Amino acid sequence: MSELRLGTPNEKQKLFLADHHKYVGYGGARGGGKSWVVRDKAKRLALRYQGIKILIVRRTYAELINNHINPLRGDLVGVARYNQSEKCFYFPGGSVIKFGYCASDGDLDQYQGAEYDVIFLDEATQLKEEWIKKIVACMRGVNDFPKRCYMTCNPGGPSHGYVKRLFIDKKYNRGERAEDYSFIQSLVGDNKALMESDPDYVHQLEALPAKLRAAWLEGRWDVYEGQFFEEFADDDRHYADRRNTHVIEPFEVPDKWQIYRSFDFGYAKPFSVGWWAVDYEGRLYRILELYGCTEDPNTGVKWEPGKIFAEVARIEREHRWLKGKNILGVADPSIWDGSRGVSVADQAAKAGVYFTPGINDRISGWMQVHYRLAFDGNGIPMMYVFRNCKAFIRTMPILMYSETRPEDLDTDGEDHVADEVRYMCMARPIKPVMPPERKAKVYNPLDDDETYGRYDWMRMG
Ligand SMILES: Nc1ncnc2c1ncn2[C@@H]1O[C@H](COP(=O)(O)OP(=O)(O)OP(=O)(O)O)[C@@H](O)[C@H]1O
Ligand SMILES: [Mg+2]
Repeated sequence: MSELRLGTPNEKQKLFLADHHKYVGYGGARGGGKSWVVRDKAKRLALRYQGIKILIVRRTYAELINNHINPLRGDLVGVARYNQSEKCFYFPGGSVIKFGYCASDGDLDQYQGAEYDVIFLDEATQLKEEWIKKIVACMRGVNDFPKRCYMTCNPGGPSHGYVKRLFIDKKYNRGERAEDYSFIQSLVGDNKALMESDPDYVHQLEALPAKLRAAWLEGRWDVYEGQFFEEFADDDRHYADRRNTHVIEPFEVPDKWQIYRSFDFGYAKPFSVGWWAVDYEGRLYRILELYGCTEDPNTGVKWEPGKIFAEVARIEREHRWLKGKNILGVADPSIWDGSRGVSVADQAAKAGVYFTPGINDRISGWMQVHYRLAFDGNGIPMMYVFRNCKAFIRTMPILMYSETRPEDLDTDGEDHVADEVRYMCMARPIKPVMPPERKAKVYNPLDDDETYGRYDWMRMG
C-alpha cells in the first residue's frame, strides 16, 4: 500500500478545508484553486472517515475526467482502486468517491435513490437550480459521518442567481437556515501556485470583455445587470473621424471587399437582414439592412418569406455596393427546419438567396460580438455600422442582460438584429483586443477547431 501524499493548500484553501458548515461555497472567480481543493478535501475525508460515501459532480463527464478523475487516478495509485464503469474510487477502508455529471434533466436518473454523506458540486453555477436541489437531496444516510455539501462557483451560469442569493446576498427562504451557509471567496491572486507557474493566466483574464473580467478576475456577482452591449457607442461627434464610436458616415465600399449577408428569422416576429463589408484587416462594416415583421399586428403588414427574399434579391441586384458581388450568406440554423412544410431556407434558395447555417452557440457568439465592439488603444473597433442601419442603432443599445441566464441577453427584448450580428461574428471569429500597453500571450480561438471563443476553453478549466 502506497502512502497518500497531500499537497500544500494556500490560505483560502485552508479555510475551505477547515469549514464544517452544512453548505460551503468557495471561489467566485477563475483559477482560484477550486477544483484542486475539491480533490484534496475528498481525499482527506475518504481517509479520515472509513466507509464514507462522497460524490463529486460536474456538468459533463468530459469535465469530470479532465478536472477530477484523471488527476485523482494519478494521486491515488496504490491507495484506492478506480472502477471505470461505476465511475468510482474504492478505498480499502470502505470509503467511496463517486463521480456524477448533470448536463440535462435525463442525467438526474443517476441520483435517484442514491445516498451520499458529502457532496461536492464543482462549478455549481453551471448546473440548473432544480438539478442542484435534486442532487443535494441525496445528502443523507443513517450514520455518524458528516453531512455536507461543498459548492465551488464562478459568477455566471444557469444558477448564478440561486448561488448568489445563498452565499453572496445571504437571503434565505423558508426551510433554509442562515447558520448552515458559509462562503469563502478565492480569487486567482489567492492561488499562489498558479500565479507562479503561469503568470500569463492573469493577463488572459485581464483581456476579457469588461463585465466578464469583473466577474472572473475580481469575483463580482453584480455585473450581469442592465445594458447588454454597454460598450456600444453612437457618438455623432466622431462619425467622421471614426474614433470611439461604432456608428459612422457611409462611404463607397471598395470593390474588392468581401460582402456577407446575415439573417435572423422568426414566425410572427421581426426578421433581420444585415449586409456587411469586410476590409483588408478583417474589420466588419454593416453597410445595409432590411428589417421588418413577418406579421406586424400594428400595421397589418406581412413579410412572408417569399416577399423577404424577393426584396433581398432585388436589393442585391440593384444596390451599387452589392450588385455583381459574390455574397456569402449566414443564417439562423432553424431556417432549415422543414417541419412546417417548405423550409425558409428552401424558400430563400428559390429566390436565388443562399445561406449557410450560422453557429448558434450563444455565449461564444456574444463574446465574439463583444470582441468586435471593443476599442483598441486608438479608439478603433473591429465592427462599424453605417449611419443608415437604423434597426441596429435602435435595438442593440436597449438589449438587457437575462435574469435567468446571466451571460446571455434577455430574449424578451428585440434581439433579432443582435442574433443576426452574432451569426455574422461567428462566421469570422477574431481574437480579443488586448488592453492597451499589455502584451500577454493570448489564446487564439482560430488555432482551435473545437471552440470558437476563449469562453468555452476557460469554462472547461
Ligand atoms: N494548493 C495548490 N498547490 C499546487 N497547485 C495548486 C494548488 N491549488 C491550485 N493549484 C493549481 O492551480 C491551477 C488552478 O487551480 P484549479 O484548477 O483548482 O482552479 P479553479 O478555481 O478550479 O479554476 P477554474 O476556474 O479554471 O476552474 C491548477 O493547475 C492547480 O493544480
Ligand atoms: Mg476548476
